[in-house]
Amino acid sequence: MYSRENNRGFLISGLICLAGMIFSGSVLAEQLAEKAVPSETQRSITLQLPPKNLARWYKPENKRQVWLHTMFRLRREILAMQDYAAKGQQENLKKWSDKFIKDYLSIAQMMPQWEKYLFKDKLEMLQIAVKSQQNKQISLILKKLGKSCMHCHDDYQTITTLLYRSADFSQQKVINRQTQEAVDYDDVMEHLSNAVNRVNIAIKDDCFDTALENIKPVKEQLAALSGSCSNCHKKDNIPVQRIIGAADKLLPELEQQLKAGDKSQSGRKLGEFAVKVCARCHAIHRLSSDLKSILE
Ligand code: HEC
Ligand code: HEC
Ligand code: HEC
Repeated sequence: MYSRENNRGFLISGLICLAGMIFSGSVLAEQLAEKAVPSETQRSITLQLPPKNLARWYKPENKRQVWLHTMFRLRREILAMQDYAAKGQQENLKKWSDKFIKDYLSIAQMMPQWEKYLFKDKLEMLQIAVKSQQNKQISLILKKLGKSCMHCHDDYQTITTLLYRSADFSQQKVINRQTQEAVDYDDVMEHLSNAVNRVNIAIKDDCFDTALENIKPVKEQLAALSGSCSNCHKKDNIPVQRIIGAADKLLPELEQQLKAGDKSQSGRKLGEFAVKVCARCHAIHRLSSDLKSILE
């Protein structure tokens, strides 16, 4: 509820804000002079990118995530062989080792450049051990074969997950509801960030009426942004709801606190909003999208 005091408070704080803007206008020329960046020992890492033909085994070039599912099978097949070898169940052991050999060799069929990672001699040893029922040898051989998995994973696993399985925002657009224009994600984010910061600045300067006015563009931009989530989140809307739903709850609460002129509570509420709406989406989407854009 508005009280007379609060209305007068808004008027006075509005004047202070205006005065602040005028006095901060002058900037000393020497402050503009460029400072040299202190030299520092450069630290860097080298990452190998997977060969481009790997894309053939992933969506959208493929209907399925063939490479990834081959990997899941390999892990399962190793476990099955270990367990059946320990229990001495030869028939099942043979069945799973045949599957394993086929999948392991398919790595080089899919990616000829990666044939060098495979330990084909160990594969022969495995076949012999299974045939001659030397079950004790099997876990030893599997351990050695496991090293070939590790070598390639060290070189390529993380980067492949990032390149082929993380959401790509570089081509994503958000529709501006007024102009119907399709806007790039970076531009949307910059506007959104400015809108949130204007609310923040106004709260810090006790300009609660200005802060209230500035919530409107935040709401509008978030509404437009949320329209783009369903480009990818088609069937399962729960992740989106958690984030957009938090905004739908927190922004009205913030408005109430601004109307009551409660500086510390509004500051806290805005912080909560920034964590639950912005930071949570960034943890999954911005981090991987930024990393991905560095690689591409
Ligand atoms: C020549 C390279 C190469 C070899 C050899 C290889 N992998 Fe992989 N593996 C990969 C790549 C690349 C990924 C990342 C795939 C992704 O995230 O989409 C991966 C991912 C995996 C994953 C998925 C992990 C997860 O939960 O996301 C498993 C499981 C796996 N590999 C098992 C194996 C096993 C077991 C072997 C050995 C028998 C093996 N891989 C050999 C390249 C290899
Ligand atoms: C370019 C495609 C794409 C867009 C656009 C997109 N997402 Fe996602 N999102 C994904 C993928 C892929 C995953 C990981 C798989 C999954 O969990 O569904 C994911 C996961 C998430 C997760 C983590 C999973 C979870 O259960 O918590 C959240 C939260 C999320 N998205 C929120 C959003 C919101 C909010 C929007 C819109 C503002 C959005 N996403 C837009 C593709 C996208
Ligand atoms: C989809 C979930 C999502 C939500 C919700 C979200 N962001 Fe982002 N944000 C991203 C992604 C993805 C990028 C990287 C975009 C790119 O570089 O193309 C990004 C980048 C940014 C950037 C950097 C822009 C640049 O040019 O590098 C800022 C600033 C930003 N977001 C602010 C915010 C603020 C403030 C909020 C909350 C009001 C917010 N974002 C909510 C996904 C989200």
